[in-house]
Amino acid sequence: MLNNALRAQRKEDHLRLAEQSFRQHRHNDFDTMHLVRPTLPETCVDEQSLATTLFGIPVAAPFFINAMTGGTEHATQINAQLAAVAERERIAFAFGSASIVGHESEALAGFVHARELAPSVPVFINVNPATPLDVVRTLIQELYPAALQVHINAVQELVMPEGDRDFHWSEGIERISAAVHEQWNIPVIAKEVGFGWDIASMRRALECGVDVIDVAGSGGTNFAQIERLRRAEQQSSSAASSAAVSAVDAENHTASNISADSEREADERAMSVDFSWLEDAGLSTVQSLLNAQQVASELVSDSASHEFMYFGSGGVRHPLDVMKCLVLGAQAVGVSGVMLHTVLEYGTDGLQELVRIWKHQLAGLVALYGMGSLQDAQHVQYWLDPSLESYQRQILHS
Ligand code: FNR
Repeated sequence: MLNNALRAQRKEDHLRLAEQSFRQHRHNDFDTMHLVRPTLPETCVDEQSLATTLFGIPVAAPFFINAMTGGTEHATQINAQLAAVAERERIAFAFGSASIVGHESEALAGFVHARELAPSVPVFINVNPATPLDVVRTLIQELYPAALQVHINAVQELVMPEGDRDFHWSEGIERISAAVHEQWNIPVIAKEVGFGWDIASMRRALECGVDVIDVAGSGGTNFAQIERLRRAEQQSSSAASSAAVSAVDAENHTASNISADSEREADERAMSVDFSWLEDAGLSTVQSLLNAQQVASELVSDSASHEFMYFGSGGVRHPLDVMKCLVLGAQAVGVSGVMLHTVLEYGTDGLQELVRIWKHQLAGLVALYGMGSLQDAQHVQYWLDPSLESYQRQILHS
């Protein structure tokens, strides 16, 4: 069982190491998808063209700040900054996992504080599929979200020495979706955390009652990489403390020392498991969006079912990546790593400036690609480099 101090330390590690590894992001699958630009677009640049609604609430742009953190003092401070920018620029904002409130009820106050700073934009709360319904109820009553995100993160759990090893999550998703629909009538978003979605899992999640899939594909923040960095740090600090302890133990070896020794050895064994090769285990955001398109087209041909809504996210670096998600049918586009990096490096004003620039540039792209409105995005033609084309041939057309 993970104690509160370890949980808080892990959140702090994730923020620090996400920022450290952010600096290494470069090429990703968005670069292998190319849009066809009309030479005669017959449009003009207008930021109003970005205005849309998310779950019935007006927003100024289709991109949003996606789930990152919450539950510690530092996390609350970051969420307050993100929420303030979301409110000022009228974009949606998601909290990081709030399941922590089930273990530490005092953590709720930080989420409430940030929510108060973003009262009029769509806010999403985020939980894991095992979160008890009374915790979900408290979160919904106190934070009145526009939607509930349920995060799905098998790779992340596996690479964390203290992570879950039981990936039976459908029942939890079904339980949460049913209660949330019945009692509060708000939509449920199932999201990955940077490893993407395959077609069968999307179908399964929809059967469990999920309304929206946020693909959160690979190409940006990579938790296998973050956990490798975290283990390397833990190993070097544990090696240093073992050296100090063994000097003392050599003199005084009691039964309790022996059991502490074996616990420490078990920890070290777990920490030394090398999963670095899982860093490439994700489906990219473009691949995941192609999967979502496929699922959406199946649902259209099945007249009994409603329209399937999906969000693009994972590795979005700039407005052209946002545009590519929209072209692939995403209704909204989530951005985490870039937002975190900008707020940590340049503060609230710096992040607000970035959001303004993105709106301006995205409005430019909408006009450049001949779109009168966001709804025209799916008419923009594109072509794919051989690796993505091969993915399409082998997975989608098989
Ligand atoms: C995350 N992410 C995340 N997702 C989630 O659903 N619940 C969470 O609590 C967190 N926590 C978290 C912490 C930190 C520090 C980061 C950077 C990210 C994952 C996030 O929402 C997103 O899916 C991935 O980061 C991929 O998007 P980017 O970062 O490549 O834009």
